[in-house]
Amino acid sequence: MSPVAFPAALTTDRLVLRPFVLDDAEAVFDRYAGDPEVTRHLAWATHASVEVTRGFLATVTGDCPPERRSREHVWAITLADDPLPCGSIGLTPTETGAMLGYVLGRPWHGSGLMTEAACAVIDCAWNDPSVWRVNAYAHVDNVASRRVMEKCGMRYEGIARRAVWQPQFDEPQDAAHYAIVRDDVASGQ
Ligand SMILES: CC(C)(COP(=O)(O)OP(=O)(O)OC[C@H]1O[C@@H](n2cnc3c(N)ncnc32)[C@H](O)[C@@H]1OP(=O)(O)O)[C@@H](O)C(=O)NCCC(=O)NCCS
Repeated sequence: MSPVAFPAALTTDRLVLRPFVLDDAEAVFDRYAGDPEVTRHLAWATHASVEVTRGFLATVTGDCPPERRSREHVWAITLADDPLPCGSIGLTPTETGAMLGYVLGRPWHGSGLMTEAACAVIDCAWNDPSVWRVNAYAHVDNVASRRVMEKCGMRYEGIARRAVWQPQFDEPQDAAHYAIVRDDVASGQ
């Protein structure tokens, strides 16, 4: 996966996906990163303060030493009429493509917004000829996220038992795996 293949900004009917800036820290913290309910099933811990959020943003904006830079290509999710981020979505390189990850603040849940964002990001991933597979996983109980993956055309590949550590649990958790491959798109499946 080559980040240069991805546009800095993507637009959908209701959303603008754009690069993060450090000044997004307060909105990111207030709207989702500091909310334990939203981060319950994530691979990262709830941010304890806006400083933690700022430190995280520095790793995706490049305002940090090169060795701390995130490998994930991340977009801030914003509504077309609100420039502040209400969530984020990103692609992390894998051996044959990219892994999709996302989060959205609670007030925006249940309106199809993440499905809209994820479909746009998956579509754009195929512009990179080195991407053959886009995969994602969710905690087995994260029904909303699993549904987003299905609605984006990802196929269920099974449960990997005890496969992931998530900071909100003190034991490894079962993960439901989903993926879409370039062949699915070419054959219209
Ligand atoms: C997962 C998440 C991104 C979904 O975002 P969203 O914009 O609300 O998703 P959408 O509205 O596009 O779709 C959600 C689907 O899940 C369904 N859903 C939500 N909660 C559900 C539940 N408890 N049981 C069954 N279905 C549920 C919705 O009905 C919808 O499906 P439908 O369109 O067929 O009705 C959002 O809930 C979130 O950010 N959660 C916290 C972070 C997270 O879990 N990230 C993913 C980590 S893998």
